[in-house]
Amino acid sequence: MVDFTARDRLRLLLGGSALALGACGGGGSSQTASGVFQGGGNPPPPPPPTPPTNGSGGTTGELTTGLLRDTFRNNFTVGTALSNQRVSAMDPSAELALDQFSSITPEWELKPDVIQPTPGVFNFSEGDRVVDWALENGMEVRGHALVWHESMPEHFYQGTPTDIRLRLEEYISTVVDYFRGRVTAWDVVNEVTSADIYRGSDGIGPDRRSEMYNAVGSADYIDWAFRAARAADPDALLFISEYDTETEFKRNWLMEIVRRLNQRGVPIDGVGHQFHFFLDTDPAQALAAIDAVDNEFLGLINHATEIDVSFYRDPGECWQQRTNCLADLGPNPPDDMLAQQAQLLRTLFEGLALRSSVESVSFWGVRDGDSWLNSSPIERFNYPLLFDREGQAKPVFHAITDPNYVI
Ligand code: XIL
Repeated sequence: MVDFTARDRLRLLLGGSALALGACGGGGSSQTASGVFQGGGNPPPPPPPTPPTNGSGGTTGELTTGLLRDTFRNNFTVGTALSNQRVSAMDPSAELALDQFSSITPEWELKPDVIQPTPGVFNFSEGDRVVDWALENGMEVRGHALVWHESMPEHFYQGTPTDIRLRLEEYISTVVDYFRGRVTAWDVVNEVTSADIYRGSDGIGPDRRSEMYNAVGSADYIDWAFRAARAADPDALLFISEYDTETEFKRNWLMEIVRRLNQRGVPIDGVGHQFHFFLDTDPAQALAAIDAVDNEFLGLINHATEIDVSFYRDPGECWQQRTNCLADLGPNPPDDMLAQQAQLLRTLFEGLALRSSVESVSFWGVRDGDSWLNSSPIERFNYPLLFDREGQAKPVFHAITDPNYVI
């Protein structure tokens, strides 16, 4: 049985009966604005979120302070990733984060290769800088990530499985305890689902055959990580984080892992969907990922954790060996692609706002120039976020904050 926190039990009591009423209509849990279901079948959707009036009855060039977070204040927290250097410089991205968001995910300061690059040494200074700045400004903090194969120094894999377990438990206990009461949600494990589908076959699933998996000889490290995190901070919300949950094959493998954790009584509170999209991503598939969790794991929370929309749908070899990548579009993104991005995220946000299990929605950066997608898979202009390189709100920002905005 999933180890629900008191919070979950309350959600179940409040939402469970409503879910029972709404479930006969299938699909994920959804509530009307009044929070009361209208009886069987799919309840009518709540009115679209009403953005605070910004004087002109619509969207002006002038950006209303808090417009983004206030638009969804009755639905979920809206957040962004932000790095220490942006916070320290208080650059335009940090200013915009203060202005429009209410949750911060340190972009890499809470990853193992920053906190413990060498055995036994804990470096919290970079993480403290971002975490404390967010808290001083009334924002929540998502911790990312306690275990991620892309950021685990080699020393985490040394010795016998028991050595690895003791070291991982000590690391996680130390880190989660240190940020206890400041970090309210942790991506405990990140990208632990098999990526074999990208090798042109059904591959091996459900677990990624990472260095940690191979060193331990199984995926039991996932259980160890969640148990250690819960023991260190019983109040922190614990998430399994994954990209491409909008692809059914990968989503099914992730659900198999969550099912296994559930059956083993491993403490987990939710699923973090990274939602790194392309312009042709089907938002219905992203919403299906939320519904898949809702339909099977009543009480689990959904977070969207790293939203961005790449303007390049490169072939696999570009990601594997940096060949055959699409040409750079240059400093000015085409208007038709900006419109596609706006429509994609308007549809996504409308759907997320209808699903009460969605409690936090975060972007992976503020301005287009911040994004990891300007160098991954290759160095190239990308335009994945809500604000352009000068900090101006893009069509996508207006599309999700103003239902009257014409894309
Ligand atoms: C990325 C950061 O944005 C980069 O600055 C860093 O160099 C590598 O990691 N999925 C994740 C994030 O879970 O941790 C990654 O962040 C982006 C992909």
